[in-house]
Amino acid sequence: MSKGNKTVTITDNDSGKQVELPVLEGTDGPGTIDIRALYKELGYFTFDPGFVSTASCESKITFIDGDEGRLAYRGYPIEQLAEKSSYEETCYLLLYGELPNADQLEKYKNIIKDRKMVDEKMRRFFLGFQHDAHPMAMMVAAVGALAAFYHEQIDVHDPVSRELAAHRLIAKMPTIASWCFKFSAGLPFNYPNVELDYTADFLHMMFSLPGRLYQASPTMVRAMDLILILHADHEQNASTSTVRLAGSSEASPFAALSAGIGSLWGPAHGGANEAVIKMLTEIVESGNDLSHYVDRAKDKNDRFRLMGFGHRVYKNYDPRAKIIRQVCHDLLKELGDDNPNRPLLETAMELEKIALEDEYFIQRKLYPNVDFYSGIIFQAIGIPVSMFTVIFALARTVGWLSHWMEMMSDPDGRIGRPRQLYTGYAERDYVDINKR
Ligand code: CMC
Repeated sequence: MSKGNKTVTITDNDSGKQVELPVLEGTDGPGTIDIRALYKELGYFTFDPGFVSTASCESKITFIDGDEGRLAYRGYPIEQLAEKSSYEETCYLLLYGELPNADQLEKYKNIIKDRKMVDEKMRRFFLGFQHDAHPMAMMVAAVGALAAFYHEQIDVHDPVSRELAAHRLIAKMPTIASWCFKFSAGLPFNYPNVELDYTADFLHMMFSLPGRLYQASPTMVRAMDLILILHADHEQNASTSTVRLAGSSEASPFAALSAGIGSLWGPAHGGANEAVIKMLTEIVESGNDLSHYVDRAKDKNDRFRLMGFGHRVYKNYDPRAKIIRQVCHDLLKELGDDNPNRPLLETAMELEKIALEDEYFIQRKLYPNVDFYSGIIFQAIGIPVSMFTVIFALARTVGWLSHWMEMMSDPDGRIGRPRQLYTGYAERDYVDINKR
């Protein structure tokens, strides 16, 4: 960040006092007013619920231009990464800031392969869940529980220790995610296979059964790899901000990520992919009365929203949704016209068309987001609906860790501690219980 020549002057009309605040310039995106002196100079906080106008940190990892519908990791446009890169290479890029050369990538892949096993005691941990526990609930708990295995070994102030924790988490996430699925399906857990690449091994751990080895088709592996690339990071969203805030107290990264997974679970965030499939299925089963759902989404007295539509930052088509829409199309084409997911895709495309021509959605700049089509791909691969957000969490792990590492390596880092506008009671005296 650089301090440009621009400043913004704030005047307190009551006292006449003034403060001149510098405008910080990033590489791209709007300038940012540095308000750190505001409280000291004028005695005021700023009020911005939902962080609509607040940059919570400085970051070099991901850039989004919401008006243009642009997304880049470390400067590389998402379209190029989706076309040319792999998830493992993208992970390296996010973690280390540069694309790896062939040796660096090979070394990274081997490090991850060697760390995929999860302590055998974790199997017993899973057995403690109810048979119908939601996979996201298990994942929140399992990732948090990993802190118990490595607590003494992590020094969050040591970059080598941080890197080791990041490798462990990235490596173990597919194993944990697959165990969440296997437990909820009542199936035996699989172990990682070091012969397979990251994404193919995840699919193997998900779908191989004793006596029946699962061989994912290259198209399925590629579709899943692409989904992982597209979900790998998205700057300061709710879950990433949660990881940063939790980690800012110097907590274990396993605990901070567990908090992030909890945040991702909500239907306004990562849980939307699950909600989209439920919505599309309901529409198909109800005889495809699309206008009924569009009308409900527009009705302010109805809490229903068109799931997979709208975004806090994108006021244009989400670039990830554009890519996923095409992959979805190609995958279903390869799987054949009689694929049971075809009606969902057709309904989604029709719904998108109606919404994009509707004044309500045009005015509010509501476009399909990444979750609108991803669920259809998941279903086509055979992933159950309750696992969708788990896979989002698996993909986003590298993003969370990149942000955590960036934050922890900042020598000026401080614990995150927002202020508030207090509107409760003014001070009052305690009333004895007999007099209330
Ligand atoms: N359907 C109908 N109306 C909507 C929708 C929608 N999906 N999204 C926003 N609106 C309306 C909202 O009612 C409001 O209208 P008005 O100005 O008349 O009050 C206006 O658009 C602005 O919405 P907002 O809630 O103030 O916007 P936000 O930035 O706070 O929320 C959002 C963003 C993603 C939570 C919201 O668009 C939403 O709930 N979408 C559906 C859930 C969804 O698909 N979430 C996935 C987000 S992308 C994946 C991720 O990054 O996690």
